[in-house]
Amino acid sequence: MKSHKITVRLRDQNRIISKEIPEGESILRKFEEDGEVLPFSCRNGCCTTCAVRILSGTIDQHDGIGLSKQMQENGYGLLCIAKVTGPADLETQDEDEVYELQFGRYLGSIKNRTGNPFDM
Ligand code: FES
Repeated sequence: MKSHKITVRLRDQNRIISKEIPEGESILRKFEEDGEVLPFSCRNGCCTTCAVRILSGTIDQHDGIGLSKQMQENGYGLLCIAKVTGPADLETQDEDEVYELQFGRYLGSIKNRTGNPFDM
């Protein structure tokens, strides 16, 4: 099976790691086999803890529901459900930053219509 170089830029650790991973394999799991600790929480593509920006290349992330189609088109991906399709250069993101990009406008519009959405 053909392998491709996957690079992950760990922004919070100021480190860059790379590994050859076979096509179709899980990026998160393959790095974990080497003892690398990458960000994750749900591991099901739902929470955005593992969000990355795809600096180059592509990943298969069709199993995830945590990122909108628009966020995916804007170059974001989820490491926990990402599978290798070819060489890729990925950069970890601040979870809050991605959450705000994706949901902030919705929460803002709720607040604008009803005041603070968390006031009872
Ligand atoms: S760990 Fe939750 S979306 Fe990846």
